[in-house]
Amino acid sequence: MIHIGVLGGGQLGRMLALAGYPLGLQFIFFEPAEEAPAEHLADRIVGDFDDHQKLQELTDQVDVVTYEFENVPVSAARFVAERRPVYPPAAALEVSQDRLIEKTFFERLEIPTPPFVAVDSLDHLKRAVQQIGLPAVLKTRRMGYDGKGQEILRSAADVDAAWQRLTGTPLLLEGFVAFQRELSILAVRSRNGEKAFYCLVENEHRQGILRLSRAPAADVPAALQAQAQRYATAILEQLDYVGVLAIELFEVGGRLLANEMAPRVHNSGHWSIEGAETSQFENHLRAILDLPLGPTATIGHSTMFNLIGTLPDAAAVLAVPGAHLHLYGKTTRPARKLGHVTVRADDIETLNRRVAEMRRVLGAGNE
Ligand SMILES: Nc1ncnc2c1ncn2[C@@H]1O[C@H](COP(=O)(O)OP(=O)(O)OP(=O)(O)O)[C@@H](O)[C@H]1O
Ligand SMILES: [Mg+2]
Repeated sequence: MIHIGVLGGGQLGRMLALAGYPLGLQFIFFEPAEEAPAEHLADRIVGDFDDHQKLQELTDQVDVVTYEFENVPVSAARFVAERRPVYPPAAALEVSQDRLIEKTFFERLEIPTPPFVAVDSLDHLKRAVQQIGLPAVLKTRRMGYDGKGQEILRSAADVDAAWQRLTGTPLLLEGFVAFQRELSILAVRSRNGEKAFYCLVENEHRQGILRLSRAPAADVPAALQAQAQRYATAILEQLDYVGVLAIELFEVGGRLLANEMAPRVHNSGHWSIEGAETSQFENHLRAILDLPLGPTATIGHSTMFNLIGTLPDAAAVLAVPGAHLHLYGKTTRPARKLGHVTVRADDIETLNRRVAEMRRVLGAGNE
């Protein structure tokens, strides 16, 4: 029996395990936090990422290691990689943990990004504002998620306050992009170099948090899908990447700017559990085990809603035709991702009707 070690034990890990059991896989999660949605499904080791003894305990029990959280310290990934194969490679973590390194990496691969400048003093920030113009977004280089560690600068009067709120850690100023829509692409590469791509997905964020994904995104010209696949291919090959990779994109004037990448399965791919021939979770596992990848074709049309902060009535959700409910077993807290709902239909008209019904069921907050 093959044992997979997973660094991180959140909902992404939980859904990896759910996809892995039909393949006969066993999982062990490594998660320092008190609550770990994955532990309802598999053993977990509670340890800090710098605890080598605990990490050793993990590697002793598994054949291969992956991660479901991109802020796993690179040193932990490297320690593990000296003992067992780790996919995706630690270099992918290194790139995606720091927005400056990440955007510089995109630039080197000729993947367009919003304009950006590293900032390390208030003076420097003022000069960066001159250079990039307003509006702009000031972001912490590291540890941001769900829009945390970001301040939008709309006018010169916002500069000092934004600096005060974020100073103390390295920062990056980015031009604010007046995008037509946000898209993402999920790509997967296996150990033998086979690649597959999912369709471009449209994402809606509110307060920096992903609320809804539509798969496939509407009216995507073949050239736009091809452009996204070219960006993904460049990253996969440059990093000798293995596993699922997500790239978040802004569509502006018919072209794509890269916002960020995630070296793991991604929230904007949850629809693939019911809405694609092979889910992102199964394909990630196939990739890291050097198994043939599964087809990524969509099955009709899907819309995924994140359940944030509050949970709807399960019976009401499931009364909507084509609805699938996923709960992560987390305690309720404001702004927390507690689960998601995917609504699927064979055609877009039917999906639109079902989605309208689901919005009424989900009500304030999650609609
Ligand atoms: N330069 C920008 N221009 C316009 N909108 C932006 C810009 N940067 C970020 N945003 C908005 O804020 C959201 C969150 O930003 P970003 O993806 O950089 O942060 P994050 O906290 O790492 O998010 P995630 O939850 O995806 O990890 C984006 O999806 C987008 O809606
Ligand atoms: Mg993001």
